[in-house]
Amino acid sequence: MGFCDDAKAAAEQIVAAPEITIISHIDADGIACEAILSQAITRLGIPVRSVFVRQLEPLTMPQVPSDTSLKVFTDLGAGQQNLLFGRGLSEKEVIIIDHHVSQPAERKYTQVNCLPYGYTRMSAAGVSYLVAKQMDCSNTDLAKLAIVGNVGDMMARENCGLTGPVREVIVEDGIRHGNVEVRKRDLNCYGTATRPIHLSLAYNDDPFIQGISNNPEGARQFLKRLGIRQQNDDRRWFVWEEMPVGDRRTIISALTEQLIANGERVDRLLAETYGFPDEIPRTPLRNAQEYATMLNACGRWSKPQVGGAILRGDRGTAYRDAEHMLNNHRAFIRNLLQYIVDTGVKELENLQWIHVGGRYPDTIVGIGAGMALSKLNSKKPILVMCEVPEDTSLTKVSMRTTERVVEKGIDLQQALSDASAEYGGGGGGHKIAAGAYIPRTAEQEFVNRVNRILGEQFAAASPDNR
Ligand code: C5P
Repeated sequence: MGFCDDAKAAAEQIVAAPEITIISHIDADGIACEAILSQAITRLGIPVRSVFVRQLEPLTMPQVPSDTSLKVFTDLGAGQQNLLFGRGLSEKEVIIIDHHVSQPAERKYTQVNCLPYGYTRMSAAGVSYLVAKQMDCSNTDLAKLAIVGNVGDMMARENCGLTGPVREVIVEDGIRHGNVEVRKRDLNCYGTATRPIHLSLAYNDDPFIQGISNNPEGARQFLKRLGIRQQNDDRRWFVWEEMPVGDRRTIISALTEQLIANGERVDRLLAETYGFPDEIPRTPLRNAQEYATMLNACGRWSKPQVGGAILRGDRGTAYRDAEHMLNNHRAFIRNLLQYIVDTGVKELENLQWIHVGGRYPDTIVGIGAGMALSKLNSKKPILVMCEVPEDTSLTKVSMRTTERVVEKGIDLQQALSDASAEYGGGGGGHKIAAGAYIPRTAEQEFVNRVNRILGEQFAAASPDNR
């Protein structure tokens, strides 16, 4: 059986089900999975309801209904099959559609997972889309949603664009359908649909450009020196996507020269980006990156259904709610980032860590950790701990690192799932980003244990790493 056969088998099981419950994750990828599959299922006239959980763990398992519906777990489940088994769920009533590492389990649930087939740059929304397409080949309008999920899960980051079947199948389907537009050599910069250009440039540090990154006034002067018109007659700032092509070229050439003059690499200056021409200009829905942030804001602030409504086309109340959450989300993350930088992290040999207490929700600490990394020592993974308001006996742990450190042999998923299992907790995720829940009493020992595991990973990959 190949990956396509797995998708086809899952599609057949879904199509034959009398009723379905989707259990999905609250991040952009999970929200996109739910919107793709629930629309594909509804189109077949099958009743479907959805449940969102921040993670599949003992605390959230009661949200999985005890009924006769087929339970489709998306963007989670692969690493928690023992929990499903513990709950008494049979093989017949479960399908897992995921891209996380699978844990060995006592029961063999039907699973569609891209990882065992070597597709490491596909998110669960990508897998969900391929299942939806097997259900009905006319579901290609949903490719756009899968692109948002993939980009939201950082699948385009390492290679400055989507790759593999996500690029060759899903993006191509979106282009053919007409709601996806690819810009092959675009500026690799966040906020191209909503931010004044100088802010877009200043907030970008991949690549770090001397005098521009972290320096809005420097960026503004840089554009002025190039003779770029930055505001319209009403003094409204232009955003990147509405700039004339000639101006964009001028800026990219000047940035390239600046990087070369500073002896920096230029390979991350440009990226392939994914735009949505059917959305209103100057809104976060115009490109995959900003769209995904909006969904993340909804999910991380406990309103994943609002994100789902937007993916289904609601541009009224849901959109206004989401805009509000997006502003709030950004403010919190900025604040968390500043808190980490100001408070400082404690450095161990192989990691740096901080406990942020109950100041920030456990759903956003990982995002803040990832952003803080570029302002800290990015050669060492960062571990952030925080309180879990619903259960004071637990601590949430989030870890982030960079592609370069992963290349040196680091696997945060392995480190956190092994270490948390030793203390009776549970964790999972990816090599580059992982999370876990552990008993609060084990915090200090846990950090030391993860530090030792990372040391072993560095050493195993290459003795020269030590
Ligand atoms: O929560 P956080 O943002 O740190 O999670 C990072 C990654 O780890 C996500 O892909 C999440 O799904 C995964 N994770 C997991 N098991 C956990 C916590 C997080 O698989 N207990």
